Amino acid sequence: MKPDTTINQLRHFVGQEVVLSGWAYNVRSSGKIVFLLLRDGTGLCQCVVEKNEQTEPFFESAKRTTQESSVTISGLVREEPRAEGGYELAVSGFELLHAAKDYPITPKAHGIDFLMRHRHLWFRSRRQEVILKIRATLTDAIRRFFNDNGYVNIDTPIFSPAAGEGASTLFSVDYFGEPVYLAQTGQLYVEAACMAHRKVYCFGPTFRAEKSKTRRHLTEFWMVEPEIAFAELDDVLAVAEDFIISLRDRVLRDHREHLQFLGRDLAQLERIRKPFVRLRYNDAIELLHSDAAQQLLQRDLEAKNQQITTLEQELAEATEKAKSAAKQWEKDKAAAREIEIREELAELREQVANIPHHVELAKNFQWGKDLGGSDETIISRLHEQPVFCTHYPKQVKAFYMKVNKQDPRLVNNFDLLAPEGFGEIIGGSQREDEYDVLLERIHEEGLPVEPYEWYLDLRRYGSVPHGGFGLGVERTLCWLAGLKHIREAIPYARMMGKIYP
Ligand code: 4AD
Repeated sequence: MKPDTTINQLRHFVGQEVVLSGWAYNVRSSGKIVFLLLRDGTGLCQCVVEKNEQTEPFFESAKRTTQESSVTISGLVREEPRAEGGYELAVSGFELLHAAKDYPITPKAHGIDFLMRHRHLWFRSRRQEVILKIRATLTDAIRRFFNDNGYVNIDTPIFSPAAGEGASTLFSVDYFGEPVYLAQTGQLYVEAACMAHRKVYCFGPTFRAEKSKTRRHLTEFWMVEPEIAFAELDDVLAVAEDFIISLRDRVLRDHREHLQFLGRDLAQLERIRKPFVRLRYNDAIELLHSDAAQQLLQRDLEAKNQQITTLEQELAEATEKAKSAAKQWEKDKAAAREIEIREELAELREQVANIPHHVELAKNFQWGKDLGGSDETIISRLHEQPVFCTHYPKQVKAFYMKVNKQDPRLVNNFDLLAPEGFGEIIGGSQREDEYDVLLERIHEEGLPVEPYEWYLDLRRYGSVPHGGFGLGVERTLCWLAGLKHIREAIPYARMMGKIYP
């Protein structure tokens, strides 16, 4: 009996016969030899079928195997440094389980809209497989950090009677005739739980009716939210710092090769260390008004224009090759590159068109406004380490944030900006623990008091300083894996106008 195994275990079977089952990722043949690249969910393996007496019964069917057909293949494991994964299979047995006909995602490239509509199949592409494997490690690392550090996991409801964040991004659903909302955050509920357990966290999907079609916004995303009793702003920052370092360490440890495959610059991740930058909102404004900010954007403009010129040349070459290359696979490859370049160019041109606007926004940034995406990008790009931006004006932040004692115009909050312009990945704060101040903030925000009575109870019975934060899984994955768009960072992205499949 040949042992059934998987591609990631082949190193244990060199010189032995094994059985692999999977899907045909790619099939090439030349005369008396077929190269079938097998995909089995654990890796890729080149299976080599040489035409001889033993392979005669199945050689032709191996040769005719179409992309994504399911197969069982047996053969001898050989070390082959040049092959993907380092091993290959000299095939001695082959069985077609199911023949796939006209698999829609071919080696020719497809536009992003097509791929998103075929997300259920796009999963099988190498890049998508790698990204979602890293995501699975990231969510495990998130749970581990809190479980290993004495936090109790508290599951919070998805149906909620009141807004947790701003009222403008609520999804409402009909709850037996009553309108209720999909949770924007579990925070208010974990605040109650931390008064019972001291350190807690919730981790689940959250919903925002964000009417913005940016590369950073989903309408459904996953957020982890720790909440800590007897903690002030600085204590929360220290936890966030250790947490980020632990996530970076774990992903680097388990996915070095995957990150390289995605083209991630590992040095950028490796150089991150404590302490992160601490920058007050007031100082952030000065930075936005500075010459350094203007020069950064000017350099960006020049670099992007240069990239456009280079890509335009490459596009012309690819177009020519797609028409006139000798081999069909060369034509397909060039056509694939053509589509990619067109998408890259469209993106770059949009960015270039936006830069003058970003220059104006930064130059004219006025105290009292929230930092926008482009402002965050500038601030983070002017620093090597992640930046904690703290002490925002209270009018741009949620009602529950602790009003600052020294300057009551401000709150004790923070956003963490990931390096390299990946934007905000954490939002957090110390919470308002004084009954009267909180009630006043609820009134100021024009919120109804009744749905928050239970929340006010926490300030009636043994109130203590406490705080916490929320980290978005998808934004964090974009930063760690170097993804330009958040749609690839979640198995089934939900965005404005996108809900299929
Ligand atoms: O800053 P936010 O809105 O904070 C809260 O919800 C707090 N209640 C958290 C807390 O203190 N317990 O969101 C926190 C993080 C953001 O930094 C971002 O990573 C992610 O959640 N996030 C989004 N991710 C994808 N799409 C969106 N529309 C997001 N909105 C927020």
